[in-house]
Amino acid sequence: MNKAKKLYLETFGCQMNVSDSEKIVTLMKGIGYQQTADPVEADLVLLNTCSIRATAEQRVYGHLGKFKSMKKHKPGLIIGVGGCVAQQEGERLLKKAPFVNLVFGTHNLHLLQKMVSGAEQGKQSIATDFLDDEKRFDLFPHAESEGGVSRFVTVMQGCDNFCAYCIVPHVRGREISRSADKVLEEVGALASAGVTEVTLLGQNVNSYGFNDPGAPDFADLLRMVARVEGIERLRFTTSHPKDISPRLIACFAEIGKLAPHIHLPAQSGSDAVLKQMNRGYTRAQYLDKVRALREACPEIQFTGDMIVGFPGEDEACFEQTMELIEEVRYADLFSFIYSARPGTKAAEFPDEVRRAEKQARLERLQAAQKKITLARNESFVGSVQRVLVEGPSSTGDALFGRTGGNRATVMNGDPALAGRLVEVRITQGLQTLLKGEVLDV
Ligand code: 5AD
Ligand code: SF4
Repeated sequence: MNKAKKLYLETFGCQMNVSDSEKIVTLMKGIGYQQTADPVEADLVLLNTCSIRATAEQRVYGHLGKFKSMKKHKPGLIIGVGGCVAQQEGERLLKKAPFVNLVFGTHNLHLLQKMVSGAEQGKQSIATDFLDDEKRFDLFPHAESEGGVSRFVTVMQGCDNFCAYCIVPHVRGREISRSADKVLEEVGALASAGVTEVTLLGQNVNSYGFNDPGAPDFADLLRMVARVEGIERLRFTTSHPKDISPRLIACFAEIGKLAPHIHLPAQSGSDAVLKQMNRGYTRAQYLDKVRALREACPEIQFTGDMIVGFPGEDEACFEQTMELIEEVRYADLFSFIYSARPGTKAAEFPDEVRRAEKQARLERLQAAQKKITLARNESFVGSVQRVLVEGPSSTGDALFGRTGGNRATVMNGDPALAGRLVEVRITQGLQTLLKGEVLDV
């Protein structure tokens, strides 16, 4: 009897990797591998890696060590590394970890079936060439449309911004937008499979279509996707503040299905630091965009990313970041200590901020944001929010969903409501979630 081969896949990092991993599962199914959650069962281990910060990269090497010892007991085990570390390290990865059978970069998923089949015959392989052409979206199957409530749809990939600290343009290559027809086709298929919400995904979705002036821009795309029947709610991520256009801002006022939430990373509140970061906007310009978005959509919720300890960030610069978060009052903020990445511009800057100082700034920022988040969550108490029910809560005795503003919400209600947008009266605002009651449906 032919026993199904088993794939153990681990995904690190951002939503783009999660999305690539869905495709990897589909591709591996095509050559006979069933996914397993238990690494001990695996015939094939694939790591889809992230290199955004040194810590993320180190984790990959840590994990590889674990699989190296597994391979001692199971010599036939195939180990593959893909994603951003694979793209960046290439040959070096095979030198550091010779027990790895295959290394596939961010543009090379279409070669994966062949590479794994080769590894089954004992061949080691590596593929990290960039493929800067829209065809790269079509070279591999879409993730199987198993439905679900909320799904991501890639609309563009890569990044041309070269923020001084960021590895993404180096490991994901140049910006490429997917044609609107292809996006609509995928959204339509998801809607037919019962999906209620889609999140349009890209490293910088606001520059969708920039490389083709005749093509629809991101605001046009949003309007088209909003017309797809069955899709009740629409989101997008990530946005670059410099590319938020008045046309896009108008979408928040005019497209009823567009959720009132935007992830709008500022990265710093200091003009001097923003300039060194090559972000292309000032603090005042950032705040102008925030104001305009709030005017177009008063209930809009902001989330953001912030880096502390960037080279040249002195105490006064950091204070400006602290002031910015008080001014914007983010619903949530992801904050990180600056990590020098090889090959980026900022890696050449003298890294003047002491480690202990960086840590202290991060802690101050996070403590201040914690209070803002709690106050924001408490401010929803008594309001009625439209929540998309995703399924049972983690404890199993309630429902979990998200408000339009993307706040996690736990509420009582019938499990059959999964996939439905319901009205929920918020009764409690906690640090990480809201609690509420479903109103009559
Ligand atoms: N060091 C620290 N944080 C970084 N980010 C990107 N590059 C770095 C780096 N070198 C953060 C940014 C970005 C988020 C995804 O990760 O805040 O928005
Ligand atoms: Fe990195 Fe800047 Fe591109 Fe975002 S916009 S992926 S931070 S280079």
